[in-house]
Amino acid sequence: MTVPDRMWRPPADAWSRRDFMRNGFASAGLLCVLASPASLKGGRRLVTSAAMRAQARSPFEPFRRELPRIPELLPVRRTATQDIYEVTIREGMADILPGFQTPIYGYEGVYPGPTIRARTGREVVVRQRNDLTFESNVHLHGGFVPAGHDGHPMDVIPAGGSFDYHYPNLQDAASLWYHDHAHGRTSRTLYYGLVAMYALEDDLERTLELPSGDYDVPLVIADHAFNRDGSFRYIENVDLGFRGDTILVNGAVSPRMRVHRRKYRFRILNGSNSRSYDLRLGPGRAMTQIAGDGGLLARPVRRRRVPLHPAERVDLVIDFRDYAPGTELVLRNADGQGGTVAVMRFDVARGGGREDFRVPRRLRSPETLPPPAADRRWDLGFGLGAWQINGRDFDPARMDVRPRHGSTERWTFVNRSNRVHPMHIHGFLFRVLERSSGRVHPGERLCWKDTIGVLADETVTVLAWFAPYSGRYVFHCHALEHADRAMMLQLEVVP
Ligand code: C2O
Ligand code: CU
Repeated sequence: MTVPDRMWRPPADAWSRRDFMRNGFASAGLLCVLASPASLKGGRRLVTSAAMRAQARSPFEPFRRELPRIPELLPVRRTATQDIYEVTIREGMADILPGFQTPIYGYEGVYPGPTIRARTGREVVVRQRNDLTFESNVHLHGGFVPAGHDGHPMDVIPAGGSFDYHYPNLQDAASLWYHDHAHGRTSRTLYYGLVAMYALEDDLERTLELPSGDYDVPLVIADHAFNRDGSFRYIENVDLGFRGDTILVNGAVSPRMRVHRRKYRFRILNGSNSRSYDLRLGPGRAMTQIAGDGGLLARPVRRRRVPLHPAERVDLVIDFRDYAPGTELVLRNADGQGGTVAVMRFDVARGGGREDFRVPRRLRSPETLPPPAADRRWDLGFGLGAWQINGRDFDPARMDVRPRHGSTERWTFVNRSNRVHPMHIHGFLFRVLERSSGRVHPGERLCWKDTIGVLADETVTVLAWFAPYSGRYVFHCHALEHADRAMMLQLEVVP
């Protein structure tokens, strides 16, 4: 395949996606799973990654590949106020396991999809063309987006159709992401690759002189499993959600990254269907968190462990000057076992020039919000073969809650179950007020959130702010297997 002109490839340095050019066109045969999900369970002889892992020189050996750098999308056109992009949602092939090709669905046919870099105050228009054989749509997760452009699960782009999504970008700098949201199949479409980052930048952030350019590195972490032919293996589990046995970062099995002795900013997205992570660096090393879902924290926070639930983002600065050349630092998942422990490795190299980035002691001043106009309680529980909210299944014909535009409300999520439910709201943001399990960590308290991990047996109270837009949106559990079934309700913000 030739790389489209508008797809920017990073220079061929030590950690670029060198073999990007080798991605071929899709073999449609392997991708018919969506049309007939039943074929997942039998059909092909499924030999798992666990069996392959046992072989010597297995493609699952960690730290064998350099971290692939995600390509960035270039606009096809810029006007005085807009950046205009074009994306095709299509099948593709990914080089994930050495010696294999993995069929995927991808934005521009790649996994993870190309990153869009946007600026606050400049509108982005993305013409999304759906070249798949089924409906798709695009949700800008974490974005303030007018209802008609939000990617509500019932607003879909038919096969062969296209839609122009308008993103006003009237919000603070934040690491957002975009993904498919056609109702009932997102656990499969995201798993097969329809996941990409959207890095929103603003002037305030720029003045802070945080690591940027080559030192601003998006990382998309997701667990997967494989068949012997190298294709993704999806195992449906409506209760627990999908659990893979292999960690991919930017589409490579637990890769390694050669780093200079300088500060790096990592924009980390948990792009997994249902797995939560407990990230730790090396033996007991601290990382500096500078941002969460909705953007910068009020001040940087040092952390030795960073929990990351599905769909959450965290921006971490690691200063590799603290380590001697030759040091190998492993970022690991303390919640994992076997192939889901090693996330990636940083190999500290000599050189890199003079440090010109910093992490200031103050990042952003928090805004004051009106006091809550309502109190609402949402019970998360299992009923009638599916996870539900307040005993209800998702019903697009029913409106579940109507907050007033511009108001805030106290929302309490009560989880009496033994599963984590990462609760996400479209179009609006939360501040976390209380957790029944203990104090709210400053890494979560000092920033806007759009996804909150509600732990087993936990009650979490948040302040939801219903601005800037009104209209019909949804909120749901971001364990995709839960949302696909029923664990989603609708809200309409009214004048
Ligand atoms: Cu990231 Cu409704 O989704
Ligand atoms: Cu859930």
